[in-house]
Amino acid sequence: IERIRKDFVTNVTHELKTPLTSIKGYIELLKDREELDHDTKQRFLEIIEIEADRLTDLINDLLLLSDVENNKGRAEPFSVNDIINEVIEIMATISSEKNIHLSCSYGNDVNIEGDKNRFKQMIINLIDNAIKYTNPGGTVEIRTSGDTDKVIIAVADNGIGIEKKHIDRLFERFYRTDKSRSRAEGGTGLGLAIVKHIVKNFDGVIKVESEVDVGSTFTVIIPLKPV
Ligand SMILES: Nc1ncnc2c1ncn2[C@@H]1O[C@H](COP(=O)(O)OP(=O)(O)OP(=O)(O)O)[C@@H](O)[C@H]1O
Ligand SMILES: [Mg+2]
Repeated sequence: IERIRKDFVTNVTHELKTPLTSIKGYIELLKDREELDHDTKQRFLEIIEIEADRLTDLINDLLLLSDVENNKGRAEPFSVNDIINEVIEIMATISSEKNIHLSCSYGNDVNIEGDKNRFKQMIINLIDNAIKYTNPGGTVEIRTSGDTDKVIIAVADNGIGIEKKHIDRLFERFYRTDKSRSRAEGGTGLGLAIVKHIVKNFDGVIKVESEVDVGSTFTVIIPLKPV
C-alpha cells in the first residue's frame, strides 16, 4: 500500500510538472524575445493555454477521483435509460466532430439508487474513451438491458483495441497503453480509475473484452437492490 501511495505521489507530481515546465518555458520566451512576430507570440500563447487547460483537467480529475474513493455520494433513485439518453446528447457533438457514429440500443429500463451525477460521469468516461481510441469512420454503441436483479450497460467500439497484456492494469491511476497517443489526445490516465471507483460505489463490476484493431467492449453490471 505504501509503495502504491508513493508511486501515486510521484506520478501526480510528474503529471503536474510537465505542463508547468512548458508554461514557464513559453512565458520566458515571450518575456525575453520581444522581437518575435505577432503570429509566433500568438502561437506561444495558445500553447500556454492548452497546457493550462491540461492542468485544470488534471486537477479536476484528481479531485473527482479522491471524492469517489472516499464516499458513495448521493443516494437517489434514477432511470438508467434517462441518464444514458442525456449522456448521448452530451457526447453527440464530440463524436460527430470526429466522424464517429454514436448509437444506443435501449433494453428494459430500470431505476437504480445512487449518485446520478457519478453514474453519468462513469458513462461519459467510457464513451469518451471509445471515441478517443476509435479512428474516424468508426462506431460506438451503448447497450442497456435491465433485468429483475441487475442492469447491464455495455459501451462497444470498433476502434484500435487493447493488447491482452494491458487489460489487467487499465484501471490503475495514470496507466496508459500508449503514452504518446494518450498525451496527444489530452488524456490524464485517470478516466478508468474514476470509473472503477464509481462502479464500486454502485456495488457493481466492470469487464473488458478487447481485440487489437477490432475493438473494445466495456461492460458494467450493477445489481439492483431488492425492494
Ligand atoms: N475503448 C478503448 N479502446 C482502446 N484503448 C482504451 C480504451 N479505453 C481505454 N483505453 C486505454 O486505457 C488507457 C486508460 O484509460 P483512461 O480513460 O484511464 O485514461 P485516458 O483516456 O488516457 O485519459 P483520461 O484521464 O483523459 O480519460 C488509455 O490511455 C488507453 O490506452
Ligand atoms: Mg479516458
